[in-house]
This record gives sequence, C-alpha cells and structure tokens, in this order.
Amino acid sequence: MCKTTANMYRLGWDERNGGNISYLLDEKEVAEYLNLSNVIRTIPLMGVNAADFDATPLQGKIFIVTGTGKYFKNVEGDPETNLGVIRIPKYKKGVELLWGFTDGGRPTSELPSHLMCHMARLKADPDNRVVMHSHPTHTLAMNYVHELNEKKFTHTLWEMCTECIAVFPDGIGILPWMLCGTNEIGKATAKKMEEFRLVVWAMHGIYGAGKSMDETFGLIETVEKAAQIYMLTAHLPRINTIKDEEMQQLAELFKVNYRKDFLNL
Ligand code: 13P
Ligand code: ZN
Repeated sequence: MCKTTANMYRLGWDERNGGNISYLLDEKEVAEYLNLSNVIRTIPLMGVNAADFDATPLQGKIFIVTGTGKYFKNVEGDPETNLGVIRIPKYKKGVELLWGFTDGGRPTSELPSHLMCHMARLKADPDNRVVMHSHPTHTLAMNYVHELNEKKFTHTLWEMCTECIAVFPDGIGILPWMLCGTNEIGKATAKKMEEFRLVVWAMHGIYGAGKSMDETFGLIETVEKAAQIYMLTAHLPRINTIKDEEMQQLAELFKVNYRKDFLNL
C-alpha cells in the first residue's frame, strides 16, 4: 500500500486526497500481526442506506484501505494514520476497525463502490484481491475529447501501444458522469465489473481490479500510457496505425480472451 500510493502520487495520478485502494487480506496472515478480537471501533459506512447495501458475501473478510480525505503522498511516511485495516461484520452495522486511522479517520468515501466491486470481481475471479481508484491525468484528459463509447474508447487505446490488447483484452467499461461516494455509482461500477476489470468514471477517473497490487496498478498504468500517446498525437495527422488484424494476431499469440466485438474485422 505504501509503495503503490507513493508511486501513484509520484506519477501525478492522485492529487490531494484523490484516489483510494482496498486490498483483501488473508485472515491467517493478519492474525500473525493483530489480535483479531480487538475491535478498536465500529465505523458506519458513508453515503449508503444500510437497508439498501448488502455486503453479506464479504462478511468476516478483512481489507486494508486508504482513508477518506487522506493524501496518497503522506501514506508512506505515516501509514498508521492514513490507512486502516477493517473487517466486514456479520451484521449491517458498519465496519470494524482493527488497525490504523489513529487520528479518528475513516475508510475512503468510496468504500461502498470498492466493496461492491470486490463482490462482483470475486464472482468472476475468486483470486481477485485489489480494487483501485485513481485520477490518471491523460486518461482523464481523453474523457473530454474522445467519444465515451466502450468499444470506441477501448479500440483507440488498443491502437496506441502494441501490447494493450494483451494487457486489457476484456476492454474498458465506461460510466457516464455520476455522483461519487454513493450507492448508485457503486452498483453501476460493480455491474460493469462483472465483465470488465477496468471502468472509467467519465470526467472523474478510473477503477481497476486485479489479483495483486502489481496487476491492478499495471492495468491502470497501461491505460494511462496509451491515453498519453493518444493525447500526444490526437491533434496531429495520423500516418501510421496498428491494424485490427495485427491486434488480433497479438491477442492470439498471447492466448488472451479478448473482446472480438471491439475489433473491426
Ligand atoms: P476519498 O478521500 O474519500 O478516498 O475520496 C477520494 C476520491 O477520489 C473520491 O472519488
Ligand atoms: Zn475519485
């Protein structure tokens, strides 16, 4: 968490308190460091109508999460204030704090979205552990000048770096601008996460999900690199491009299950 937040800040993706991460931990591993029966306090979920939010599949699961209003640039220097280890309790009464948030802090305001995304991704891939939200600069810039259509947006990014189709063959889901920190955006993101590991929140940022911190970071990093190349070239005459047949060859060489309907063959 420390290394990743520091990297994301260094790359300019997470200004001020922008971005949040949640990482599903292994209970046995946590028990080596923490007394699991020592609940420091119970924290109600923000932006959520408890009756409308069901995290039953995550009951008893432990996550390390970034805090709301906390700056990524500060995590490495003071993880115990800026991060928290939380457990999802059996009853709908908020989350149990096991470690961290020493200044009275609370989990990210996007926790409902994160938890809903974990539930969706765990159904698609039982090894999924990480959900990451960020505001990467070029990806965001691209939102203002490129059509926000999943096929067209994914296709443009795939064209920007040869290996994009191998890194995110499942493509990118897109949500229109929505109010963040709410149940509604959480539900909509989780719905997209049933088929995509990457979801753009229009004019806000991106969500990524993966098995490990590296995989999830790498997904967002690859999108951001492709978006940067797009933003460096979109206003110039395009002379060369990677053809759809070439992308298909690459996807087949890497044996990835790519969105064939996102190519024009
Ligand atoms: P938090 O500080 O609550 O994590 O919010 C940051 C953010 O990026 C909201 O979308
Ligand atoms: Zn955000």
